[in-house]
Amino acid sequence: MKIIVSGASGFVGSTLVAGLRRHGHEVATLVRRAPADPTELRWDPAAGELDPAALAGADAVVNLNGRSISSGRWTPNIKDELRSSRLDSTRTLVRAMAGADPAPPLLVNASATGFYGDRGDEPLDESSPPGRGFLAELCREWEAAALEATTGGARVVLLRLGMVLGSGGGALERMLTPFKLGVGGPIGSGRQFWPWIAIDDVVGAVEHLLGRGDVEGPVNLVAPGEATSRGFARALGEHLDRPAVMPAPAFAVRLGLGEMADALLLASSRVRPAVLETSGYRFRAPALADAFHTIIG
Ligand SMILES: NC(=O)c1ccc[n+]([C@@H]2O[C@H](COP(=O)([O-])OP(=O)(O)OC[C@H]3O[C@@H](n4cnc5c(N)ncnc54)[C@H](OP(=O)(O)O)[C@@H]3O)[C@@H](O)[C@H]2O)c1
Repeated sequence: MKIIVSGASGFVGSTLVAGLRRHGHEVATLVRRAPADPTELRWDPAAGELDPAALAGADAVVNLNGRSISSGRWTPNIKDELRSSRLDSTRTLVRAMAGADPAPPLLVNASATGFYGDRGDEPLDESSPPGRGFLAELCREWEAAALEATTGGARVVLLRLGMVLGSGGGALERMLTPFKLGVGGPIGSGRQFWPWIAIDDVVGAVEHLLGRGDVEGPVNLVAPGEATSRGFARALGEHLDRPAVMPAPAFAVRLGLGEMADALLLASSRVRPAVLETSGYRFRAPALADAFHTIIG
């Protein structure tokens, strides 16, 4: 397939592009700087600029753009940027898709399990309603912007990504140092469910969804092996053969990270990969132990 990827320089994007190319797909990337070679196409999502001709004839567009959610405290300015970087990119792509001839028939757009918000032990699948709070509202708006592409006849798949585990970036990389030093442990009560997925399964699931013309709308990209913060700490400690019982109290995490702590670390979302399972996707890392084995070794 001929696939255009945005946000390709990021943690998920760089692994996805490499995986798609390895499996024989022709991938071009959208870049916000001068292109370095013919596989790169220039766009300016903040200004809404993308030549529709760049997308003409592509089989799919994969949109991963957005300022990092976890790289700094959510000040009002940062919140504006988190929102605009996602909405501007998505709207620019949807508009260009509508103007392309022939138009790409598929948009695969990133979203997050943050859509569901803080829901305790409630089992959540793709049919569950959105939660409350900044992140849930942002995901809802982001998904609505992507779904505009259906008006032009495209199939739209919304990737509700859980915490992506891989090397070279993401949450696991940040957790590894304290856990290796034996000072890792559960966060807050430790009872909150953390939806997660190994990066290999992000690549595998996207490839699966590219080929499943009957699947559209939200798809939870989370592993079936659910984990609470406490279970996650235990599994990581066991894998590294280190104690992992040092709790990080909720107040301390809030003090350090502000509102982001509640949305990303203290919230509980017990999310099932219902669409991936019913559409026959076979997980490469269904349980945390599998993911740690592949990623950490
Ligand atoms: N990693 C996770 O655990 C996780 C979980 C849930 C959802 N997601 C979502 O999945 C997507 C990809 O995640 P990721 O971890 O790969 O993110 P990432 O490493 O932060 O990469 C995102 C990419 O977006 C582009 N970008 C950065 N700032 C931007 C801005 N201000 N305006 C427009 N584009 C900007 C950059 O690509 P270019 O410079 O190439 O344009 C960047 O490489 C994100 O939208 C993220 O919210 C990720």
